[in-house]
Amino acid sequence: MIADRSVPTWVLTDVVRSALAWARLALERAGLRGVADVRCGFWSGWLHRLVEGVVGAGLAASWGTLMVYGGGASSYAPPSSYGVRLCSPGDATSIARVVNRAFSQYVWWHPVSPNDVLTRLRRAGTVCYVAVDEGGDVVGCVDASIYTALDGGLTADVGLLAVDPGHQGRGLGKALVSAVIEALARRGVRRVGVDSASGLEAFYRSLGFRERRRWVTVRVPIPALPQSIPTLEEWGSWSNTTRDISANS
Ligand SMILES: CC(C)(COP(=O)(O)OP(=O)(O)OC[C@H]1O[C@@H](n2cnc3c(N)ncnc32)[C@H](O)[C@@H]1OP(=O)(O)O)[C@@H](O)C(=O)NCCC(=O)NCCS
Repeated sequence: MIADRSVPTWVLTDVVRSALAWARLALERAGLRGVADVRCGFWSGWLHRLVEGVVGAGLAASWGTLMVYGGGASSYAPPSSYGVRLCSPGDATSIARVVNRAFSQYVWWHPVSPNDVLTRLRRAGTVCYVAVDEGGDVVGCVDASIYTALDGGLTADVGLLAVDPGHQGRGLGKALVSAVIEALARRGVRRVGVDSASGLEAFYRSLGFRERRRWVTVRVPIPALPQSIPTLEEWGSWSNTTRDISANS
């Protein structure tokens, strides 16, 4: 969710409320229960507070930074006795295991299944590498999805970077990100972004990424999302009563 700060807060509140109501409708129609993660582009906290104003307080939130590759970083080879190779669909089960072990430290993590991984790998424009130990077992992974941006330039997002906790701190994370960046460059991708989890900014900085903006993800139980799409009359009455929560930001 990204919003233009120059738009009046009451308009944004109404837009957020109806966007979340549509999201609830879509999620419930798809038979989904549980929680939804609302990712907010984040500048000085106001959009995050606006979303909380709509859905209520007491929600888990996680923070991070959108970082963009600036080029010119050193290339990192895997440490000795490890290798990095392109992944294949047969790696899906091992990737799911490594990813779930590595991400279990985050309260916001939803475990992924081998099928989730396969779906991700089969998306058009996905590039994926795995790190393997000397026995050939998968101990790390990274993927990136390539898309054409509005200006026609090839762009990619790095995602799902994980190293098994038993193999962290040996240079595998850097080797994996290096491998995927080099593969993207060979495919003509000029812009690469990553959503860094909070605290990993220095790791990505050492790989040539620069901070662009902070984000926050607000976790909301689906039943706490606004329920119905507002009518024009409701829009009018909210507009008159909505407190301008930007006043204190
Ligand atoms: C992030 C991750 C992939 C790094 O893998 P790794 O193999 O341990 O990384 P490397 O050994 O290549 O470490 C490179 C550098 O990053 C630093 N680093 C690694 N993990 C870090 C962490 N969690 N917090 C802060 N710094 C970290 C290391 O200290 C090292 O610094 P140095 O080169 O100055 O010594 C791994 O910690 C992981 O799987 N974390 C859980 C999943 C995750 O957070 N994925 C990324 C989401 S954006």
